[in-house]
Amino acid sequence: MIIATTTSEVRGQVQKWRQAGLTIGLVPTMGYLHEGRASLVDKAVTLCDKVVVSDFVNPTQFGPNEDLETYPRDFKRDCALLEEHGCALVFHPSADEMYPDGNGKTDTYVEILDEMPRQLCGKTCPIHFRGGCTIVAKLFNIVTPDKAFFGQKDAQQLAIIRRMVRDLSYGVEIVGCPIVRETDGLAKSSRNTYLTSAEHQAALILSKSIFLGQKLVADGEKDADKIVAAMEANIKTEPLAKIDYVSAVDGITMMPVHMIGNGTLVAMAVYIGKVRLIDNFIVEE
Ligand code: PAJ
Repeated sequence: MIIATTTSEVRGQVQKWRQAGLTIGLVPTMGYLHEGRASLVDKAVTLCDKVVVSDFVNPTQFGPNEDLETYPRDFKRDCALLEEHGCALVFHPSADEMYPDGNGKTDTYVEILDEMPRQLCGKTCPIHFRGGCTIVAKLFNIVTPDKAFFGQKDAQQLAIIRRMVRDLSYGVEIVGCPIVRETDGLAKSSRNTYLTSAEHQAALILSKSIFLGQKLVADGEKDADKIVAAMEANIKTEPLAKIDYVSAVDGITMMPVHMIGNGTLVAMAVYIGKVRLIDNFIVEE
């Protein structure tokens, strides 16, 4: 596995692969890999000849009060795991390599201007998706992948990236990958490491209410407000949980819906103590 820290190294290697007629998959990550993030690499390996994984904690998508400094990092462990999963090149740039103006600063952003990035998770951190789009656009320009892989876990991010690709005519196919969970149901997340064991138990209320919502849909309930209310009531039975939002939205536009239909996204963000966790499901009819 090649470890690259500069854009020119990545471009040079990609050019060689292209000349050999190989297809390239990109898995953007912020590192600290767990089975959720690594599942994207597994998927990419099945669909592309060479898989590039970016491992970069992107400063432009963190708000001023967010955990940029303390965000967990372990590049050595990431490399061992990535090699095991069949990654061909890991791109691990410094912040200055990606943002040459220093301090994670840039004056050029990619931003969707309609309501889409301001719904759901965009309400608590309005700059989050602007930073995410900007770094993913930069990675697309550097790696020029045929396919790029994103998790359904971050459903709003996935929808926003699809929209960016459409609006900016990127020639990259976006592949969405299912949510990977712990055996107890908790969606895998690097932030799970912040939870005490009591908080971990409390955090199971997220997946339990997701499964409750899915069951109501499977039983034929079409009223989105009723489903959201039942899920909220369920979450409120957990004293350590504080709801940020539970919403039913159109899975493409992220705008609220009142009737459940094919492609509806039911998404939530819930604080367990100080840790903000997200989970969701998509209705497939
Ligand atoms: P990060 O949080 O590292 O996530 C990397 C990818 O792993 C994302 O596409 C995310 O949706 C996916 N992922 C995380 N947990 C998952 C789980 N339990 N099951 C399936 N997939 C999961 O998302 C980002 O990084 C950044 O915003 C990024 C796109 C890299 C831009 O900086």
